[in-house]
Amino acid sequence: MSVRPSRRLASLPGYAFAEVDRKVAELKAAGIRVLDFGVGDPQYPTPPPIRQACQAGVDAHAAAGYPSYVGSRRLRERVADWNRRRFGVTLDPDSEICSTIGAKEAVFHLPFALIDPGDVVLLPSPGYPPYRTGTLFAGGEVVHYGLDRANGFLPDLESLPKGILERARILWLNYPNSPTGRIAPAEFFPRAIEFCRRNDIVLASDEAYTEIWFTERPRSFLEFGREGILVFQSMSKRSAMTGYRIGWVCGDSRLVTLFKKLKTNIDSGVPDFVQDAAVAALGDESHVEDARMAYQAKRDMLIQAMRSLGLSVEPPEGTIYIWQQVPDGTDDVEFATRLLAPGIAIAVVPGSWIARPLADGTNPGKGYVRWALCPPIEEVEEACRRLGAARF
Ligand SMILES: Cc1ncc(COP(=O)(O)O)c(C=O)c1O
Repeated sequence: MSVRPSRRLASLPGYAFAEVDRKVAELKAAGIRVLDFGVGDPQYPTPPPIRQACQAGVDAHAAAGYPSYVGSRRLRERVADWNRRRFGVTLDPDSEICSTIGAKEAVFHLPFALIDPGDVVLLPSPGYPPYRTGTLFAGGEVVHYGLDRANGFLPDLESLPKGILERARILWLNYPNSPTGRIAPAEFFPRAIEFCRRNDIVLASDEAYTEIWFTERPRSFLEFGREGILVFQSMSKRSAMTGYRIGWVCGDSRLVTLFKKLKTNIDSGVPDFVQDAAVAALGDESHVEDARMAYQAKRDMLIQAMRSLGLSVEPPEGTIYIWQQVPDGTDDVEFATRLLAPGIAIAVVPGSWIARPLADGTNPGKGYVRWALCPPIEEVEEACRRLGAARF
């Protein structure tokens, strides 16, 4: 028999970082120590109390039946408690919270619950790829809004064409923003909520990075409203739990109900011992403070080195990324390729690979590269040395 992909799968581009990975593997094979700022995955151990809670959870759930589809009552109460402490928001654990297998799964699946073929989903460029792929798999139409320095990396919502807004069902927002590092100012939140209400659009807020901040404490959309809002949270970056796969959605109970109905048809919940680990993680803020300080030290070191070389760069306000403007006279792919030269051997991601072209053909990622602040501080120091020796 022949094996062929579905039209939707075939229409997707290959893995954007494959070329970087190939180059990195080549350098490593040649015995060169590559400093990998490409992948946004924390490389330090998950804090011990979280791992211990997970280990104890394996025994506590010795009879490992299917977990709850929506998360254990204990987890949902802990999530509600955390939201109360962190954002001053009161959530009903039964009707307003549902656990997810990390934010990615939830982001990808949301359109399956809300859109029909031909409906429009509005999303950022640059932006997290599952906003787009989830929409396409659900048969929706993607319309990107651009994030660039000129608009402070905030969407110009009012400039979206009326014809598009009439068909739009979901608006994705992501602050603190990956990859630009921008934290939305307080006045942005009510404006975006009012825009969505006026146009009858669900506001989907990806808040995966609210805990990694350097300037002001990021706000949640739920501090400003609940009707028509669904928030996506993640334990991945806050607690170095990317490999555990756990997060949650919360907000308007009508949206949470639809999401739960969808999920009972897709998966069978988050393993109980992973939920136990998340309960422990949400009960402690000191490891999160440590993580913020470690990211900030790396951020400051790199920014200072870049500036001393005359490179143009704004420090991110939050997230684990630096969105660096490449020097005049070069483009992002060229600059990233230059950094991969054997004498430098630093891997970053060209911005145009993680952004999509807008309707006018421009690519808002062009002219930027993304540095993920994931290597340990000694490697960041080494990167600064190599940059200094490279001369730009
Ligand atoms: C903007 C954004 N949202 C969500 C996620 C995914 O988080 P999780 O690990 O919970 O799936 C990421 C991961 O890099 C991200 O960058």
